[in-house]
Amino acid sequence: MAIPRSVYPAPFNITRTSHVVLTVKDLAASRAFYCDALGFVISDEDDQALYLRGIEEACHHSLVLKRSADAPVCERVGLRVYTEDDLDRAKHYFERAGLPAALVEGPHQGRTLHVCDAVGTPLEFCASMAVRPRLVVQFPQHKGACPQRIDHVQILAPDVQGACAFYCGLGFRLSEFIAPDGTDDLMFVFLQRKGNPHDIVFANGAGPRLHHAAFSVPDAQHIIHACDMAGSFGFGANLEYGPGRHGPGHALFAYFRDPDGHRLEVFTTHYQVMDIENEPVRWNLSSLRQRSWGLPPRRQWYDEASRFLGVEPRAPARTGDPMTLEKFLAEEE
Ligand SMILES: [Fe+2]
Repeated sequence: MAIPRSVYPAPFNITRTSHVVLTVKDLAASRAFYCDALGFVISDEDDQALYLRGIEEACHHSLVLKRSADAPVCERVGLRVYTEDDLDRAKHYFERAGLPAALVEGPHQGRTLHVCDAVGTPLEFCASMAVRPRLVVQFPQHKGACPQRIDHVQILAPDVQGACAFYCGLGFRLSEFIAPDGTDDLMFVFLQRKGNPHDIVFANGAGPRLHHAAFSVPDAQHIIHACDMAGSFGFGANLEYGPGRHGPGHALFAYFRDPDGHRLEVFTTHYQVMDIENEPVRWNLSSLRQRSWGLPPRRQWYDEASRFLGVEPRAPARTGDPMTLEKFLAEEE
């Protein structure tokens, strides 16, 4: 299969991944996890929702937690466009593609375009948000992991090739990809608009489902401190995978599950990639079994993910056989 090429110029200007909207059962538990332990900043809160941001972010929110008695889901993945005109161009683009598109008013973010991508992921685009102070040098307010800003989301999808083609059509660039040895059958694609390797990652799996949202932290020590703080606040068992170092993207990372099971990655950020001659980096599937250090993730890291509201996951045509912690330990015996 051919690797999709990015469309230039993009049909409308997406600047970055902006936010995720999750539902949670207990806002007090979410507040303890995200704010007390991990150090997210509260922009607004009431008895229905928490609006959180990282310490570098001037935009109102990068993480919205909405109280719900129903099973926890991800309502939408948020993306930013550059101008209000881009929002109108986006609406026309999705309508021409025969995909649902509706303009609504979003809290703290004005005109918001609700759409679904080609694999059924609920998205929302906005062109602006309410502004809050950046807390970069407000050191007394730095806590836990000291999350700086949202970086990317990862989505499990049964049609990674189709997702890649769709997002390349929106002007996303493929920075890295994983394919079985000797083929270009895309299993993982790392897609970006903002000039580092990821804004949206698609991985082969039953979906669409949200695998994780990722926030950058200042350095490796903050990943360790996040683990210490999670343990201190009773969330030690919520550390799911890591600390470790990624192959694709190369960052140091740790993955946590929040009190509702939503997955969060904190990681040291990536390299810059924006020059036109930068071709996608290829990773053979077999190479991922050769770790320079660290343990592989538990099976659940591959299989479990947050459902999107009202979206029934579809099974992938191909099921992988990843190296899991369980398999690794069995082979060591
Ligand atoms: Fe990630």
